[in-house]
Amino acid sequence: MIALFTPFTVKKVTFRNRIVMPPMVNGSGDEEGRVTEAALRYYRERAAAGTAMIIVEATAVDEKGRCWRTGLGAYSDRHLPSLQRLSEAIRAEGCVAAVQLVHGGPQGAPELAGGETVGPSAVAPSPDAPLPRALTVEEIHAIEQRFADAASRAVQAGFQAVEIHGAHGFLLDSFLSSARNRRTDAYGGLVSNRARILAETCERVRERIGADALLICRISVFNKRAEGFSQADLQVVVQGLESAGVDILHISTDGAFKGCFGAGKSIGKWAREFTRLPIIVAGGLGDPRNAERAVADGHCDLAAVGTAMMSDAEWTKHAAEVLGV
Ligand SMILES: Cc1cc2nc3c(=O)[nH]c(=O)nc-3n(C[C@H](O)[C@H](O)[C@H](O)COP(=O)(O)O)c2cc1C
Repeated sequence: MIALFTPFTVKKVTFRNRIVMPPMVNGSGDEEGRVTEAALRYYRERAAAGTAMIIVEATAVDEKGRCWRTGLGAYSDRHLPSLQRLSEAIRAEGCVAAVQLVHGGPQGAPELAGGETVGPSAVAPSPDAPLPRALTVEEIHAIEQRFADAASRAVQAGFQAVEIHGAHGFLLDSFLSSARNRRTDAYGGLVSNRARILAETCERVRERIGADALLICRISVFNKRAEGFSQADLQVVVQGLESAGVDILHISTDGAFKGCFGAGKSIGKWAREFTRLPIIVAGGLGDPRNAERAVADGHCDLAAVGTAMMSDAEWTKHAAEVLGV
């Protein structure tokens, strides 16, 4: 039996196999963040190859949280018609349609985001990046609301799942980082405080999208390795997300099988110690045999294949051939 090609069900949503296209920014938006015709074709082709779920690239929840000039948006009702066409294009091919929601925070583009970037504290994400302005608590709550509004639009547009981008140093992940978050209020300090904005965002999204739509949260650990993010920290974050009503945990890695936290155990295996949530893992699974091994050996329930699927629209079809399905 080939594990990668067995179906999997989460709540009322059935995935035809275990292959996920993770979010990858691909210049899919016009100047106002609406989906272009080229992007509709791009995503439809990858759905048609048999992929179980496509998580559409990072899509801004707030005009002030934009990162890319040709990025997608879900911060206004004017985005609804093209988002609907995109969900329909993906679903027409039997593929589950999901969309990732992002606020750029310290990694936003100031020229697109009203002239400034914002974050937990005035700590620049890199030496050449502008200094972000520290958000007030009122602003934090308003951004959480923006995520909920955008998620509600995505579901209204026909997406069966929304993914909260809590990885890679964008706003929600920048709060998790002890190096970038120097706050002394309820959103800084202990990891339970640093994870508060992510958990509250998921909670608000859960309330808004109802029980049926799937809520995915993406996190990353590899970018916080240098600051000592530990397995105990991961446990706090993951359990907070579970309590907030997340349905699937998506872990972005720099190598799905890599030992983590100084032990020979992969991050997917670590996460399983803390939660019964289904797990998606991304990172280096472009060879179908590796994607199969990741699922068969229990590193994840769903394998995300990024750059390999970006360059080969028919990756999933070719994987079936390679694995003899
Ligand atoms: C061009 C490009 C764009 C990406 N955009 C996003 C994104 O929008 N959101 C996100 O969470 N990750 C993004 N990623 C990371 C991928 O989702 C994935 O985790 C990474 O490519 C590792 O998987 P792979 O080894 O299969 O390529 C991007 C990666 C690439 C190469």
